[in-house]
Amino acid sequence: MDKFIIKSTNSLNGQVIIGGAKNAVLPLMTACIINPGIYKLNNVPILRDTLTMAKLLKMVGADVKINKNTFTINTEGCNSPYAPYDLVKTMRASFYVLGPFMSRFKKAQVSLPGGCAWGPRPVDFHIKALKKMGAKIELSGGYINSEGELYGADIVFDKSSVGATGNIIMAAVKAKGITKILNAAMEPEIDSLIEFLQMMGSDIKRENDGSVVITGVKKLNNRVTYDVIPDRIEAGTFMIATAMCGGDVTLKKVNPNHLSIVTNKLIEAGADINISNDIINIKMINRPNSVDMTTAIYPGFPTDLQAQWMALMTVARGSCTVTDTIYTDRFTHIAELERLGAKIHLDNNVAHISGLKKLIGAEVMSTDIRASASLVIAGMFSTNETQISRIYHIDRGYENIEKKFNKLGAQIKRVS
Ligand code: EPZ
Repeated sequence: MDKFIIKSTNSLNGQVIIGGAKNAVLPLMTACIINPGIYKLNNVPILRDTLTMAKLLKMVGADVKINKNTFTINTEGCNSPYAPYDLVKTMRASFYVLGPFMSRFKKAQVSLPGGCAWGPRPVDFHIKALKKMGAKIELSGGYINSEGELYGADIVFDKSSVGATGNIIMAAVKAKGITKILNAAMEPEIDSLIEFLQMMGSDIKRENDGSVVITGVKKLNNRVTYDVIPDRIEAGTFMIATAMCGGDVTLKKVNPNHLSIVTNKLIEAGADINISNDIINIKMINRPNSVDMTTAIYPGFPTDLQAQWMALMTVARGSCTVTDTIYTDRFTHIAELERLGAKIHLDNNVAHISGLKKLIGAEVMSTDIRASASLVIAGMFSTNETQISRIYHIDRGYENIEKKFNKLGAQIKRVS
């Protein structure tokens, strides 16, 4: 199993090109199942997760051609609405096939995703909403067996959910009648999915109050070419790394609008940030200020940058709190950051952090995608050497992260 060996990095300087968004392209790939056709997705990041999704699509009967960062997905041959546990357990987003399967085949057998690295992640909202649309759903042997014609319905989730919003939108595009999702997720990845489905000929509107209205249609287009939106989480990771290590970094091919709260928080922490079109430049000279942060649904501070923000705060001037309201148990990175000497006290979903002048390199272990990103950032800042094991986690969400950081002056070696 690969691991990273990281030497201390004085500062990060130069340019980095941000790739397409993992959390946007995964639902786009499943959306291609809805209607037999040939769909071309450009700016797709080459990640363990996008390759896993390609594997799942092939199992369903699709043909997926990969040419650099362009995936051409031909779903004319899809014939088996089945998603096995072996795949779903490696990537929860495989569960996003449920809506498309019901839309196309009016039946589905999809493994329940089970828990993840930091705790339970239920899918009850997805199931409840599909039942409300008329699906007959039975859980057996760890699988969801769903079948039946779908009808439009008014859907209200107990709380905003990216996955459930995406799955139900995809289930509703060919349902009979009108589906209205009230507290639909506002994440840019959902707006991108809506845009792609509209290009497929779906009748979908985002209302001013954020709700989404889908009027079922009979016929859809079967040829769409689409550019995947930039990855705001990858961009946020590089910005926070620059704030921690110091330096002057220019991020290219980003959408600054998707990062407003992250930019504001970094400015509070003492960074100098300049934005123009799809470029963000961040300069950091001094030691960061301690800044409290609470995660929230978009446009709030993303939970997928919580671990990285915590790493930054471990070396900030003063003390602060980091609170996760989306995943109240997403803190497996704390024990690993403490191995580097960080001072963190966790009280339920609030971490109290006392900033230190330095961290000291050690052997640490990745537990999930974003926790591993926080360890890479902390490892670059730490004196001595840091070794991070189980980096297959980071390869799930970041394309060539060590090459990109090394171009900015870091010293990260991948060793098998
Ligand atoms: C998406 O997960 C992202 N994954 C996650 O990113 C991200 O952390 C999360 O949204 C929140 O922003 C992908 O897009 C592939 P949710 P998802 O449904 O859709 C609860 C990463 O690192 N909930 O919005 O699974 C849930 O437990 C990953 O890239 C239910 O209770 O998240 C959580 O507390 C990690 N029942 C909250 O809602 C449900 O049926 C939000 O979850 C569904 C969700």
